Amino acid sequence: MRRAVCPGSFDPVTNGHIDIIRRASGLFDEVVVATGTNVSKSRLFAPEERLQMLEQATEHLDNVRVAGFGGLIVDFCREIGAVAIVKGLRGATDFDYELPMAQMNSHLTGVETIFLPGASRNAFVSSSLIKEVAGLGGDISAFVPPFVAERLTARLAQRSSPA
Ligand code: PNS
Repeated sequence: MRRAVCPGSFDPVTNGHIDIIRRASGLFDEVVVATGTNVSKSRLFAPEERLQMLEQATEHLDNVRVAGFGGLIVDFCREIGAVAIVKGLRGATDFDYELPMAQMNSHLTGVETIFLPGASRNAFVSSSLIKEVAGLGGDISAFVPPFVAERLTARLAQRSSPA
C-alpha cells in the first residue's frame, strides 16, 4: 500500500486543491488529505469545519480520506505510514515557498515531496484571495464547490454583522 499525504490549511478548500487531490489519488493507493495549521496565516474556519468541507469535497474519490494533524507533518506521515507528501505548484512563488519545506521534511525523516503542476485554470486561485474577493462582495463561484461558496458567504456575513 503506497500512501501519500496532501497537507494544507484548506481555509477553505478550493477547486485548485481538489484538482491536486484527485490527481494524487490516481498516483497512490491511498491519499490522506491532512489539515494542519500554518502559524503565519489567520484562519476563517475552525479545524473541524475545514475537515468537514474537505470530506464533502472529496467524497467522490474512493481512495481519499481526510484527517487533521498537529505538530510536524513528517511525524504525521510516519504515524500513518505515508511515503510521500504531494503539493500543487501554481508557479515560481509557490515553488520558492515549498522547496525549503520539502528539503526540511526530507532532512528530518527522509519523506519525499512530490510537486504536481497546478492546472492553468487554477493558477490564480488561492484560499486567501477567495476570502478577500468574497469578503468584498465578488463572485467566487467558479473557484470553490457551491457548498463552500455558501458557507463562506454565511461566515463572512456573520463576521460583518454587529454583535
Ligand atoms: O495551506 P498551507 O499554508 O500551504 O499549509 C501549510 C502546512 C499546514 C501544510 C504547513 O505549514 C505544515 O506542514 N505545517 C505543519 C508544521 C510543520 O511540519 N512545519 C515544518 C514544515 S518544514
